Amino acid sequence: MSALYEEEVLSVHHWTDRLFSFKTTRSPAFRYENGQFTMIGLEVNGKPLLRAYSLVSPNYADELEFLSIKVADGPLTSKLQHIQVGDKILVGKKPTGTLLLDNLTPGRNLYLLGTGTGLAPFMSLVKDPAVYERFEKVILVHGCRTAAELAYADEIENQLPNDELLGEDVRAKLLYYPTVTREEFRNRGRITLLMGNGRMAQDLGLPPVEAAHDRVMICGSPAFLADIVGLLKGMSFTEGSSNEPGSYVIEKAFVEK
Ligand code: A2P
Repeated sequence: MSALYEEEVLSVHHWTDRLFSFKTTRSPAFRYENGQFTMIGLEVNGKPLLRAYSLVSPNYADELEFLSIKVADGPLTSKLQHIQVGDKILVGKKPTGTLLLDNLTPGRNLYLLGTGTGLAPFMSLVKDPAVYERFEKVILVHGCRTAAELAYADEIENQLPNDELLGEDVRAKLLYYPTVTREEFRNRGRITLLMGNGRMAQDLGLPPVEAAHDRVMICGSPAFLADIVGLLKGMSFTEGSSNEPGSYVIEKAFVEK
C-alpha cells in the first residue's frame, strides 16, 4: 500500500511574491491532530519530492490547507508555487509533530508564537475547541517582515469571531497579536524583543509572561527558535514532549527552500 495519498488542488491563494497557500481534497481515511505536520509534495522525474508541511486546516475540515514560502531555486517550492486548481499533490499518510495540547501541562494563558510560515500549525489549533476548554486566553502571535505577509489576518480578525462553531470562544478568549519588523505597522519588532521586554503582554492587557502560569507553543525559523527558547529557559520554562509534558513545545517551520 502506498505511503502517500494523491489529492487534488481545489484553490490557490498567493499572499505575496514569497508566500502562498492552497487547499486540496482530503481522503476520508486521513486523520491528524491539530498542530501536526505531514510530508507533502509533487512527483518530479517519476519520484515523489516531499517536504514537511504543517496542516493549516483543522482536523475536522473536509479539505486540507497548507501555507508555503516560494523560493526560486528551492527544489520543491520552485515547482509547488505554480500549482493550479485540478493539479495533483502527494500527501503523506503519517502526520506527526510536537505542537500538541497534550504535550503541555495545564496553565492559564496559551501563547502561540509563529514567524513566517510558522503560523501554519497554529491556524489549526485556534480552530480547535479543546484549546479554549483548556486555557483562559489564547494569544496568537505572528511575526513577519511586512504586513502583507500576515497571512490569514482577515480570517483571524473578521471571520473566526463570527464562526458558528467557534465564535463565542474566539470572542471571549482569542487575542491576535501580529507584529512586523521591516515596515510601519501598529505592532513593530521581533517577537523575542516584544516578549522579553514585556511590551506584548502590556499591549494585550495581560500579566507578564511567567512559567508558573503560561504555556507556549513555538514554530518558526531555526534562529527564532534558538532565541526564543533561550529567553524562555531563562524564565524557567521547560520543554514538553509526548513523554513528559512541559511549559513550552517547539517545532521548526520546515520548508526553507
Ligand atoms: P527580521 O525582519 O528582523 O529579520 P523570515 O521571513 O526571514 O522567516 O522572518 C520572519 C520574521 O521573523 C521577521 O519578522 C524576522 O525579523 C523575524 N526573525 C528572524 N530571525 C529572528 C530571531 N532570531 N528572533 C526573532 N525573530 C526573528
